[in-house]
Amino acid sequence: MSFFPVTRPRRLRRTAMLREQIAEVKLNITDLMYPIFVVHGQSIKREINGMPNQYHWSIDRLPELIKAIKEAGILSVMLFGIPKTKDKYATENYDSNGIVQQAIRNIKMLHPELIVATDVCLCAYTNDGHCGIVHNDEVDNDQTLDILQKTVVCHAQAGADIVAPSGMMDGMIQAMRYALDQNDFNQVAIMSYAVKYASAFYGPFRSACDCALKGDRKSYQMDFRNKKEALKEAKMDEEEGADFLMVKPALSYLDIIQDVSSSTTLPIAAYHVSGEYAMVKAAFEKGWLDERAVTLEALTAIKRAGAKVILTYSALDVSKWL
Ligand code: PBG
Repeated sequence: MSFFPVTRPRRLRRTAMLREQIAEVKLNITDLMYPIFVVHGQSIKREINGMPNQYHWSIDRLPELIKAIKEAGILSVMLFGIPKTKDKYATENYDSNGIVQQAIRNIKMLHPELIVATDVCLCAYTNDGHCGIVHNDEVDNDQTLDILQKTVVCHAQAGADIVAPSGMMDGMIQAMRYALDQNDFNQVAIMSYAVKYASAFYGPFRSACDCALKGDRKSYQMDFRNKKEALKEAKMDEEEGADFLMVKPALSYLDIIQDVSSSTTLPIAAYHVSGEYAMVKAAFEKGWLDERAVTLEALTAIKRAGAKVILTYSALDVSKWL
């Protein structure tokens, strides 16, 4: 045992250089993945309600964003598309000229090395706003898998490096891995939103994705009172062939990130979601919090808990702060 006065922990905190030298976890810009929302239309860069400094981008405006991402040293992006029309079967999801497909091709032209991941879900594409096909008032799991298979193949054809299913359908990883492999896309990786809770912290994202949902997603996303279930979901997705496991949201779920991370050899991703971002922005605007300090502390904590990749709307800011 170490006893005072021989042992004095403050010795190693005395100077900035000492603290820097012994720091256990350091946040790096290469830890981050930046979410992008793409929309149809021309010369659109429109701020998203509830998410200051985050925008809807039309394809023709992407060059300025991709340039900033490149200069910041960010390695990867996650694409979200807002379709022209919503319908029962989420058809724009697997249209080779859909908004996400156009964005992938465009980004790969502007910056071929950038890792392009796509969020694969139905919620922005269906007119009821659910993450799956609604049948007899319920979200039909297996019918949804068909749509997910068509979608990932279509994203892969457009050039996606990673597909990231976020709909919490059972068997989605197995179905997607099979479809990709059957179509010669065995090098396209799957980042599973494996442990995704039904969370009120997704609030601002609903307007970001122009989602039509009334009601909630509790019949497919997880109950935040549960932890064992997180380990079960993570294990199933790993066995079905996921390459990354994601935990979402991040900040209220650090225990989950830590436990899932120690239960697997796969890299863990964590999504620092829209509501978490909005809280800091709002408090900053009121002069109540130091945005830079709070954001760096939160992201470092998410990394300390075990996340290898952190999805965050603050990625571009972080590049200026680090
Ligand atoms: C789609 C999806 C959501 C988010 C990412 N993908 C919303 C939801 O499931 O309700 C949330 C992201 C955020 O809040 O930043 N299924």
